[in-house]
Amino acid sequence: MDAEGLNMSVFSDAISNYLSPIKDLLDDPTVSEIMINGAEEIFVERKGLVYKVPNKFQNEAALLAAFRSVAQSVGRVIDQDSPRLDARLPNGSRIHVVLPPMARRGTTVAIRKFAKEELTLKDLISSGALSAAGARFLDIAVFLGKNIIVSGGTGSGKTTLLNILGGRVPKAQRLIIIEDSAELQIHSEHVVPFEARKANDDLRVKEVSIRELVLSAMRLRPDRVIVGEVRGEEALDLIQVMNTGHDGSMGTVHANNPLDTCTRLESLCLIGDTRIPPDAIKKMVGSAVKIIVQCARYHDGGRRVSYISEVLGVDNHGNYIVKHIFRWVQTGKDAKTGKYIGEMVPCNYVPSFFSDIVVNKLPFPRSTFTTPDWVEKLEQADAA
Ligand SMILES: Nc1ncnc2c1ncn2[C@@H]1O[C@H](COP(=O)(O)OP(=O)(O)OP(=O)(O)O)[C@@H](O)[C@H]1O
Ligand SMILES: [Mg+2]
Repeated sequence: MDAEGLNMSVFSDAISNYLSPIKDLLDDPTVSEIMINGAEEIFVERKGLVYKVPNKFQNEAALLAAFRSVAQSVGRVIDQDSPRLDARLPNGSRIHVVLPPMARRGTTVAIRKFAKEELTLKDLISSGALSAAGARFLDIAVFLGKNIIVSGGTGSGKTTLLNILGGRVPKAQRLIIIEDSAELQIHSEHVVPFEARKANDDLRVKEVSIRELVLSAMRLRPDRVIVGEVRGEEALDLIQVMNTGHDGSMGTVHANNPLDTCTRLESLCLIGDTRIPPDAIKKMVGSAVKIIVQCARYHDGGRRVSYISEVLGVDNHGNYIVKHIFRWVQTGKDAKTGKYIGEMVPCNYVPSFFSDIVVNKLPFPRSTFTTPDWVEKLEQADAA
């Protein structure tokens, strides 16, 4: 049995012995996330909406024992010295655990299940998360090597979209992927994945940070670098990667709209011990990031791309210039299902690199950026 197989069997034992109170949830393909708030309270996410379920652990000790054994099955420890655990399970699920007393309700866990069927651009179009034109435009932006940041709130679909975009990179290019805990499964010919390492005093293991891995990536001749989640000082390194000829690099950032994405990246760049003045950092962010794809989870549970925007740099007053190319517009609500009705529409803005599209003979006419009349009428009615 290989190491992966061995891990899997230790993990299966942990599941059958300790996780039996939630086994039905783990097996249920309609459950995408399981949230445990202490032994007595469990919620799940189905189709983007959160529901309480009757499952319970016998008591706090049983819950703690369960996740200790899950941690052990992936070679990690969770105890009072390290009361937080972020890990990927052998079946691809991602878990985060926080122990009491920090978690005041008792051991608190979120399990993000690995989607068995990977979503594709076509799936996003058919579920209405993206329009066909928006999807084609993203494909073109990836093909042309535009630097892309996928931005959004927690669980808005950033990693899923980054995975899809990574898979659209031209096959011959060397892609270096750097993540905290490996989630991306980019199918391409030349992919080099890295995973950061947490320090573990017991095993005398030192931390290897995302930042260090980005620096290594630069010496490993990448065509493009993908950082799964930018949430610390590695932002500055990614921005530098993007500004130094590794066009088409990508990452995700937690932010609520395209403009905030720039500001967030800027403040992350300033966390580290940088001697670069803030004004210069702002300009670097403004010129590194070309396209922002904003993901959102709407109140009806739907995950959609709310904006596709272009960053044009920084104006004389130090403000980022961000132009929306496409946006999602709600037109109604289905009375039966409560689902929002709407679609992604162009915003009457032709991106600055339109000539690249023409020169490369990509089938994307200028008219595709024109806002349809009905949207303008809707806006006039709203304003009235
Ligand atoms: N367009 C979509 N349609 C339906 N489900 C989706 C869509 N995008 C993502 N999902 C599902 O939503 C969940 C969260 O997605 P994902 O992990 O990509 O979000 P995230 O923004 O990266 O979250 P986090 O902030 O925790 O990193 C997953 O279960 C994923 O399969
Ligand atoms: Mg993610």
